[in-house]
Amino acid sequence: MMVSRIIPVEPFDLVVFGGTGDLARRKILPALYRRFRAGQMPKNARVIGVARAAMDDAAYRAFAAAAIAEAGGGEAEPPAEGADFLARLGYVAVDAEAAAGWEALGARLRPGVVRACYFSVAPGLFATLADRLHAHALAGPGTRIVVEKPFGHDLDSARALNATLARHFGEGQIYRIDHYLGKETVQNLMAVRFANILFEPLWNARFVDHVQITVAESVGVAGRGAYYDRAGAMRDMVQNHLMQLLCLIAMEPPHRFEPDAVRDEKLKVIRALDPLLPGEVVRGQYRAGPGSAGYRADAQNPASDTESFIAMRVGISNWRWKGTPFYLRTGKRLRARASEIAIAFREPPHAIFDQQEGWKENVLSIRLQPNEGMNLRVMIKEPGPGGMRLTDVPLDMSFATALGAGGAVIPDAYERLIMDVIRGNQTLFMRGDEVEAAWAWTDPAIALWQAAGDRPLPYDPGSSGPEDALMLMHRDGRRWREIRE
Ligand code: BG6
Repeated sequence: MMVSRIIPVEPFDLVVFGGTGDLARRKILPALYRRFRAGQMPKNARVIGVARAAMDDAAYRAFAAAAIAEAGGGEAEPPAEGADFLARLGYVAVDAEAAAGWEALGARLRPGVVRACYFSVAPGLFATLADRLHAHALAGPGTRIVVEKPFGHDLDSARALNATLARHFGEGQIYRIDHYLGKETVQNLMAVRFANILFEPLWNARFVDHVQITVAESVGVAGRGAYYDRAGAMRDMVQNHLMQLLCLIAMEPPHRFEPDAVRDEKLKVIRALDPLLPGEVVRGQYRAGPGSAGYRADAQNPASDTESFIAMRVGISNWRWKGTPFYLRTGKRLRARASEIAIAFREPPHAIFDQQEGWKENVLSIRLQPNEGMNLRVMIKEPGPGGMRLTDVPLDMSFATALGAGGAVIPDAYERLIMDVIRGNQTLFMRGDEVEAAWAWTDPAIALWQAAGDRPLPYDPGSSGPEDALMLMHRDGRRWREIRE
């Protein structure tokens, strides 16, 4: 029986810059509402939406109500509770690049409560916001800032951004979001590894043949082509989300589950990554399909060489992992939306059964989304007569069925992350040096393919990416797991 404990956080003022933007509408406001309904938001918590448009509190509350209804799939919310939540919301029009509105914003902020400023705006505004908050004396040593991705476009820009933020804020005040770290199943990676004795002794190159990380999406880039075309899958997904997943799988056990202990270990992994060689990377770009436009049309760039898919083999040069490749792939318009991590173990050192044909490697797969769960494939004797014939069976666990009557509701990543900001817990946020190290590894790989004039290979929508990505594993005598929901 699962008992969840909800401990209300301290009273807070959360200022959401970009308060009428897409992220606020789709994620931040619905997440706050769900935490409110769960009883985690104290009575005197306030959320202040900030954007350029003129709007009053009532109009912002209507905007939030619509956002919440939309996120809840149109489900009608109990009106009393909804009104209680909306009463905590306010709005101030501020021109981030000018003087207008800052004083009015200051007048809304209360002393003596946790103050957090969420930069849910175009990255070009991060530095401006930090400067203005400081200039208008709206940020003190206790103020926290939340910075959305992308955190820089490459190492130089990430360094510059870190330096700008550091002018006004200490590292302990800066919450760099990678929303993958807020996903329940991603946190579960740490629980599985570090709260069980079972896996850890096998968790190294001696016993692990290889690791596969797949983050597949079925959607394309239509609607956000302008951003995406400058980024591509490497910058948009690998540098941050896949890198974080890799770190959680590969890192040494931290001595405690504390921000710097965890982040120190992740940083060591990133620094131990081998440089990517050209033959270890396959880039792809989706074609048009029946009823769907191709990447170039979606990105509105007919000559684009940006990748909407990337697969790679990554080596880690440290004692634990030398000799165990990590295969990573991610892409848009693939066969299904499916993200998983699979740890494939080596063969037993010696075969004692005569009939080994049925033998398959043990695989621990951790399903991030959808249908979160874990699966361990083990060998057993095939039931019945006929001698000792082997077959593999899955030990299957769906978290939804295992954890709750009728299925546990898995909270959205943003619920966890925003509450962590208020609690002042940075464990699930990226430290500045971590982001820089990730860029330091990504940049040379991008520079190599740019220098070589490499063009992404076309792939069909609804496929598993270009053929060459399959070859990346085939030539090592291995194969990708199927992408399926
Ligand atoms: C974002 C990327 O960070 O993550 C998007 O910019 C991507 O391109 C998204 O679609 C995927 O997130 P999720 O939570 O849907 O897996």
